[in-house]
Amino acid sequence: MKKSKKKKKSNTWKIKQHRDQFFKKSKTLGYRSRSAFKLIELNKKYKFIKKDTNLLDIGAYPGGWAQVTSKIISTGKILSLDTKKMDELKNISFLQCDFLEVNTKEKILNFFKDKLDVVISDMAANTTGNKSLDSIRTNQLCTEVVKFSSKVLKPNGVLVSKLFMGDDFLEVKELAKSKFKKVEFFKPEASRNESREIYLHCVTLKTL
Ligand SMILES: C[S@@+](CC[C@H](N)C(=O)[O-])C[C@H]1O[C@@H](n2cnc3c(N)ncnc32)[C@H](O)[C@@H]1O
Repeated sequence: MKKSKKKKKSNTWKIKQHRDQFFKKSKTLGYRSRSAFKLIELNKKYKFIKKDTNLLDIGAYPGGWAQVTSKIISTGKILSLDTKKMDELKNISFLQCDFLEVNTKEKILNFFKDKLDVVISDMAANTTGNKSLDSIRTNQLCTEVVKFSSKVLKPNGVLVSKLFMGDDFLEVKELAKSKFKKVEFFKPEASRNESREIYLHCVTLKTL
């Protein structure tokens, strides 16, 4: 077998192994998605989810992240939202809606009645097969999340959001840096190596 073919085959094997490892783990532990492990890693690193956290979970379906938050938060409020309907979970309120619509933002504000401690977003635009376009569309969603979070978070609030290492990555990073004092990026082990996905972690709003 030629060297390049051999390499491709071994890469495909590694990708499959990685996927299977987290898939099996999620089934064993009863998580609705492999994504749950990404949030577990993010929270292990940054420790932003506490029992009294008021948290907004955007792009929540099927509910892996919601399950993780529901296990930790007992006295805080959790609102999950997605365009797709999510099955119920203990101490989670759910809104089926498009985050980009104006009245969604009003519903969120009505629900919390106060500023939030944490916003997490795992939103991803529907894939088109064009990686560059997919990353631009997901990063547009992330841009909206950064803008919204900067208005609704408490001064020491935390934002965690998915984005892609695409052409417009630096634009999103600059926007985040204009709104928050500390901006970092983290790629959890549960996120596939070959995926351009990365997570933005922002803390402490800049006062204007
Ligand atoms: C990777 S999945 C989220 C996985 C989820 N965090 C979990 O742990 O199970 C991305 C989700 O973003 C949602 N989404 C994409 N665009 C959206 C929008 N404009 N408003 C609300 N949800 C959106 C999709 O419907 C999809 O369910």
